[in-house]
Amino acid sequence: MTDSASEYVLDAPYTWQFFGYQSPLVLNYIARLNGVPTLPLDRPFTYCDLGCGNGVNCNVLAECFPNGEFYGVDFNPEHIANANGLMAQGGCTNVTFLENSFEELLESFLPKFDFIALHGIISWISEGVCEDLYRVVDRFLKPTGLLYVNYNALPGWEPLLPLVAKIKELAADIEGDSIAKMRGVLGPLATLEFNDAPPFKDNPAAKYKLSTMLKDDPNYLVHEYLNSVVRPLKFDTVADDMAAMGLVFCGSAEPADNHIDLSVPAEFRDQFPADEEDRPRESRKSQLLKAGFRRDLYCRAEHRGRGAQSFDDWVFFDTGQWEQEGRGEPTNEDEILGAVIRAGADGSRNIAELCEALKGYPKDTVVDVIHRLFAEKYLNVAAQKVLPVPTLADSTLPGQGLRFTAPLNLAIMQKLFLADGHCDLASRIAGNGRRLQGMQALILVAVHDVGFDAAPALVRQLIDHFKITWHVKGKAVTDPVEREKLLTQTFEAFLSGDLVKWTREGVIEALPPGAPMPAENRISPMLA
Ligand SMILES: C[S@@+](CC[C@H](N)C(=O)[O-])C[C@H]1O[C@@H](n2cnc3c(N)ncnc32)[C@H](O)[C@@H]1O
Repeated sequence: MTDSASEYVLDAPYTWQFFGYQSPLVLNYIARLNGVPTLPLDRPFTYCDLGCGNGVNCNVLAECFPNGEFYGVDFNPEHIANANGLMAQGGCTNVTFLENSFEELLESFLPKFDFIALHGIISWISEGVCEDLYRVVDRFLKPTGLLYVNYNALPGWEPLLPLVAKIKELAADIEGDSIAKMRGVLGPLATLEFNDAPPFKDNPAAKYKLSTMLKDDPNYLVHEYLNSVVRPLKFDTVADDMAAMGLVFCGSAEPADNHIDLSVPAEFRDQFPADEEDRPRESRKSQLLKAGFRRDLYCRAEHRGRGAQSFDDWVFFDTGQWEQEGRGEPTNEDEILGAVIRAGADGSRNIAELCEALKGYPKDTVVDVIHRLFAEKYLNVAAQKVLPVPTLADSTLPGQGLRFTAPLNLAIMQKLFLADGHCDLASRIAGNGRRLQGMQALILVAVHDVGFDAAPALVRQLIDHFKITWHVKGKAVTDPVEREKLLTQTFEAFLSGDLVKWTREGVIEALPPGAPMPAENRISPMLA
């Protein structure tokens, strides 16, 4: 056993991010796509997030899947206190957070898990701690379970290793805690980059990485670069460790990576025969494409099916990207894509019903098109049929207000939206977090707090309070008359856009008429 606490940053908490790749619905989709039998999520199942950070993933997913029993484990007491705080405020009853190191779990009595997630872990712990972690996985993953693991990958990450070494060297000479050290290294790094000195000389990847670091949250940067171990890994190294536990690769949680034609440039495609085994294919893909990050799914070798499985009862719904790209009218080439989008857009039909509605096209083609549209982010996968499109008359009436359907979502809005300007809310319909950001999100806050009629005045106050400059096509809107016009237009767009979307996905609902928003539920800082 290793003393892992001495290796990992403990003096600065990690960020409060949500990652939709971890949703059991997405993991089930990927497994099924690759022939692995999956578990229905409307029956009881177990899920464990090892190294859960502040617990946002576990709390949001627990709200999305009331039949799931979720566990989050982390050895940082601040993370577990934060996770428990959000859980209590959000009233989640199907999630348990454990303040334990991985090695301590080896002594624990936990249930066996249908899903285990290792998000942002194995590239930041030593081989010794990783061995303990894998023993935990081996002991607690069910024979039919799925393991999700993401990591910084070689050879894609190779050019960044000198940058990591330089960050550590500079940080060693800076007084203070990890955040102070991280802030302190950014200036000297920028100077080195300006002078085209190592590690930036002839290293475009390091230059690009610095440009993103300057905008990143320091708490993220500390965990990414200041741990004593920063260990990008080869696909084969991870696959070997997995094989030692009897686990085999069964897909990528990034949907497009499961399709050669969507993930490999045309000039290399003939190197990837359709019937090739997973391991040599993924190994070569990693070498050739030099991806710096992988999101892999593993299952027990004996559970690895290969046959095509039916998606008949799966539901997909439009993400809006097709419309945003102005692809409303299909051309000959994408006629079937457009037809599938239009027939499935509102998420009211499952695939079997969609194929029935599109009888003019062969079923296999329609199903292939759906997988493709999902991989290209034109469709979302849903856990349930999407609610019928509400009209203003039967849902949220002007003169009235709206509220969040789940206390967790209100807690997330009060805690995270105001701090970060964006957050992810739980949707039982989507079976995932849904990103809330931008001006329409601010309008939602205002309608939530004071109802439709008073909302525009509150939006103005919120804009002033947060000193938000409104940009249209990159240009700041400073003229008060222009700003007013824009506010009216955005408010109207909200009524037919996000208001409808979030209601359909079960994130918000109408406040009963005559029921004002309780003061303690308000989100706006000037009202709370
Ligand atoms: C980069 S963060 C990722 C957090 C979360 N999975 C996410 O993606 O937002 C890594 C997490 O692993 C936890 N961790 C690292 N080593 C650990 C160990 N030996 N036992 C338990 N937790 C550990 C850290 O405290 C930290 O919260």
